[in-house]
Formats: sequence, C-alpha cells, structure tokens
Amino acid sequence: MKRAYNFNAGPSSLPLSVLKRAQEELLNFQNTGMSVMELSHRSKEYDAVHNRAQTLLRKLMNVPETHDILFLQGGASLQFSMVPMNLLHEGEVGNYVLTDSWSDKALKEAKKVGKTHVAASSKEDRYKYIPKIDDIRLSDHAAYLHITSNNTIAGTQWHEFPNVVTNLIADMSSDILSREIDVEKFALIYAGAQKNLGPSGVTVVIIRKDLLEKSSDSLPTMLNYKTYSESRSLYNTPPTFAIYMLSLVLEWVEEQGGVKAIEKRNREKAALLYNCIDESDGFYRAHAEKGSRSFMNVTFTLPNEELTKKFLTEAKERGLIGLAGHRSVGGCRASIYNAVDYEACEVLVDFMQKFKKNVS
Ligand SMILES: Cc1ncc(COP(=O)(O)O)c(C=O)c1O
Repeated sequence: MKRAYNFNAGPSSLPLSVLKRAQEELLNFQNTGMSVMELSHRSKEYDAVHNRAQTLLRKLMNVPETHDILFLQGGASLQFSMVPMNLLHEGEVGNYVLTDSWSDKALKEAKKVGKTHVAASSKEDRYKYIPKIDDIRLSDHAAYLHITSNNTIAGTQWHEFPNVVTNLIADMSSDILSREIDVEKFALIYAGAQKNLGPSGVTVVIIRKDLLEKSSDSLPTMLNYKTYSESRSLYNTPPTFAIYMLSLVLEWVEEQGGVKAIEKRNREKAALLYNCIDESDGFYRAHAEKGSRSFMNVTFTLPNEELTKKFLTEAKERGLIGLAGHRSVGGCRASIYNAVDYEACEVLVDFMQKFKKNVS
C-alpha cells in the first residue's frame, strides 16, 4: 500500500498506527459487536472513550484544574462567534490582534456581537510577521485579547505570548499540542481537531472555569459554554467517532514521549525545511519574516508562477501532496503537523533541491 506524503493544511495527516487501530476496531469495538460509531453515547463503553480523551488531553497539555475541557462541534469558525457571545458584554470591548485572515474572520464575527478594537495588526505587510508584544495597545474596558497562536495561511507563529491584564484567548487550531505551552496563561483556548488532534468534527475548548459565570442564560443552549461544562460535553449527542479518534491520537502523542518530544521533532522538521529555503540562493523565499516563522506551516514562493505550477505538478507525481499555498499568499505551503514525520520532510527537501538544480 502506497501512502502519500501528506502536507495538507487541514484536514491533514494522521498517524498511520492510529488509522490502523481504528481499522482493526471498526467492526467490533472492545467486544461490543459494533463500531464506536454505532454505540450509544450514553453507554459505558463510549463514556470511557470520552473520559479518556478529556483525561489524556488534560495530562498531555498540563491543563490545570482551574480550566475545563469541552468538546463542541461547528469548528473553530463557530468559536469566532461563541467567544464574543459568551464573553463580550455591554460596556466591554473585544480586542483582536490581526495576523491572518482567520483572525480577521474572528473579528468580523465579534463585530456582530459587540464593540471591538484592533490591538495590533500586520495586515499592511501581508501578515509577514507577528506584531511585537510591546506594540499591542489594549482598549479601555477590554473583555479579552484574542490572538491566533499559529497562522495557517501566512505561516507565522507566536513564539512568545503577551502578558496582558485582560483575558488572553487563543485560536490554536493549527498548533495545539505541537509545543509545550503554559495553559494557565490563557483564559480560553480553542482548536478545530483536524490538524493536530484528529479528524474534523470535534472542536476542543479549554476555558478557565470562572469565565463560565459570564455566559448569559439567555443564550441559545447549544451556544452557551455552560451547557458543555455542566454536562461533560454530553448534553446532546457529541461527535462520538471524532472524539474516539482524538483519544487514539492522544494515546499516540503519549507513546511518542508527550508534547515535549513532539515539539523537539517539530522543531527539527521545520529547521530542515527553512534551511533548505535559506540555502537556495533566493530560489525559494519564505513568506514569513525570520522571527515569526511557523513550525507548522512553512510558506514559501518560487521565482515565478510558471515554476510554481511546475513544482506543484512534479511534487504531486513524486507523491508529495497538498503543497499549494493559500490563494491569498500564493506560492507553496508545507503543513508539517505532528503526524507528518521527519522522513516526509527529508523527501520534500530532497525534491526541492533537485527541482532547483533541474530548472536552474
Ligand atoms: C487558525 C485557524 N482558525 C480557524 C480555522 C477554521 O477552522 P474550522 O474549519 O474548524 O472552522 C482554521 C482552519 O484552517 C485555522 O487554520
């Protein structure tokens, strides 16, 4: 069986051992005579899966007891609305740092709910960098500061987080579980699962418990964080299969040596690619400025459109899939999430070097 070298931005690569295990268990999960997908979400077998996913995520990310872990649906995009609906009230201002079109979208949704303020932005410079922490200007009466820890499209990443007097909220969709972070610093973290956590369908929210008091009872039930917190995310039918896959991915992370070991490997993978770009005499150029480069999404351009097309076609023939950049940035993007192994990056670098040689 030939597997692709998968550099998709999301949904993206999953560990082979996880897929195999899911395949093995597909028809008869733990002698139940049925698939996880066919289990009642109220059964003890499913409950154990649900619990395991929450417990393992807490352990791997070192989530303190002050924070709750919730499983929702609707993707990170629904969080763009739920964050302000739950946490932005009359007389308060939602503060946003603009670093990519995802943060732009988050701001757009918040504007529909209440007052907002752009605390910093790199939009004018095509989001090539993360604004300096010292340049962040909070508004008065800030309800929170929203950042996007990793910018999937621009290929930039926060390598240091701001210490702010208000609640720090992060969209971590494309770098959750890729590096060690201090969860305590954050009032709320959210992430769609389909990059580092599993398949699409489940969204993880980590929320500091005292914030739950801010959610008004007049909110629709399914849009209120309290509903999920009070029911262990079992108020209605959760995305059971996606949560099962999440539990398998988390077990895999643990087997790899936890987040610390994963981070080390991610840094090595990224260094391999950025070195190749930097040593190409300007043939490949990174979109992101050096201090802001992402370890997850490596964005780069070639000298012209024609070469980019040729590069992408030949890469595909070599089994290197998903390398086209987002249309707003152009060029190429290699998404090297946790499940993309070092060997895949070596194959890509080898291809990039040969391609350059052949066309020069
Ligand atoms: C940083 C970031 N935020 C939000 C989203 C939107 O996520 P979803 O498709 O889960 O709504 C994405 C998707 O790629 C993303 O990369």
